Amino acid sequence: MARLSNKVALITGAARGQGEAAARLFVSEGAQVFLCDVLEEQGLVLAAEISEGGRASFVRLDVADAGSWQSIVGDIEEQAGRLDILVNNAGTNVRHALTETTRDEWDRMLNVNLTGQFLGIQACAPLMKRTGGGSIVNLGSTAGIMGHPVAGYSTSKWGVRGLTKAAATELAAFNIRVNALHPGVVSTPMMDPESKLFRELVELTPLGRAGRPEEMAEVVLFLASDAASFITGIDLAADGGFSELGTYGAVWKHIHAAT
Ligand SMILES: NC(=O)c1ccc[n+]([C@@H]2O[C@H](COP(=O)([O-])OP(=O)(O)OC[C@H]3O[C@@H](n4cnc5c(N)ncnc54)[C@H](O)[C@@H]3O)[C@@H](O)[C@H]2O)c1
Repeated sequence: MARLSNKVALITGAARGQGEAAARLFVSEGAQVFLCDVLEEQGLVLAAEISEGGRASFVRLDVADAGSWQSIVGDIEEQAGRLDILVNNAGTNVRHALTETTRDEWDRMLNVNLTGQFLGIQACAPLMKRTGGGSIVNLGSTAGIMGHPVAGYSTSKWGVRGLTKAAATELAAFNIRVNALHPGVVSTPMMDPESKLFRELVELTPLGRAGRPEEMAEVVLFLASDAASFITGIDLAADGGFSELGTYGAVWKHIHAAT
C-alpha cells in the first residue's frame, strides 16, 4: 500500500533540489501535493510532469510573506478540505563571513530559513487542528548542530531547532507532530559539486560521499508519515556521519593514511 495515500501535503521550496525530490516521492506514494516556491516556471513544469491524475499542483509562495501563507492555506482547505503534512523545506544561503555579511543578507537568511517556517506553522496548524492532526517537517542543517562560519545561515538553522521543539510542545495536544531533519552535504543547486567547499565536506563525511536529494526525501517521508506516529520534537541528522563522527573520523583517516 502507498505510504501516503489520502494525505494532503504542502512542500515549500519544491521547484528543485530536496523539495523537488520530496514532491516526486510524495506523489508516487499517493499524496496530493501542493508544491510551493518562488521559482514559478520550474515549479509549474515540475508539477505538470509529476501530477498523476491531478495530484500535484504548483502555487507561487514566498515563505517570508505572511499574507500569501494565509491565502494558500485557505485555497487548500477549499480544494482538499484538509492538510495533513507541511514540509518547511525552502532555504537560502549567502556564504559570506560574519564581518562581510550585509544587513540585507542577514535578514534574507533569517526571513526565509526561520521566519518562513514560523509563518508556515502558524498558517497551517489551525487547519490541521480542525481536521484531527498532522505532521510538520522542518529542514534544518548540520550548520544548526555544529559550529559553522556563515553566521546568518547557521543562526537560522539553530533557530529551526528551537522553533521545532516549541511547536512540537504546543501542538502535541492537537495530534500534530513537529520534527526537524538536518541534512549534511547534499548535491543540489545550493551546493555546487564543483566547489572546493563541496569537495572538502565530502572528504570529511565518514560515508565518503554527498547525500542524494532522493535519500533526504525518504527521511522526510518517514517523519511525515504514520510510520513515525510516536515521534515528535526530534532533531534527526541525515549526514553520512558528519556531525557525530566527522572530527574523529577525519583524525582516524589522517593517521591511517600516514601509517
Ligand atoms: N544542499 C545541502 O547541502 C543542504 C545541507 C543542509 C541543509 N540544506 C537545507 O535543505 C533545504 C533544501 O535545500 P536544497 O539543498 O534543496 O537547495 P535548493 O537551493 O536547491 O532549494 C531551495 C529551494 O527553496 C526555494 N526558495 C528560496 N527562497 C524561497 C522563498 N522565499 N520562498 C519560497 N521558496 C524559496 C528556492 O527557490 C529553491 O527551489 C534548505 O532548507 C537548505 O537550507 C541543504
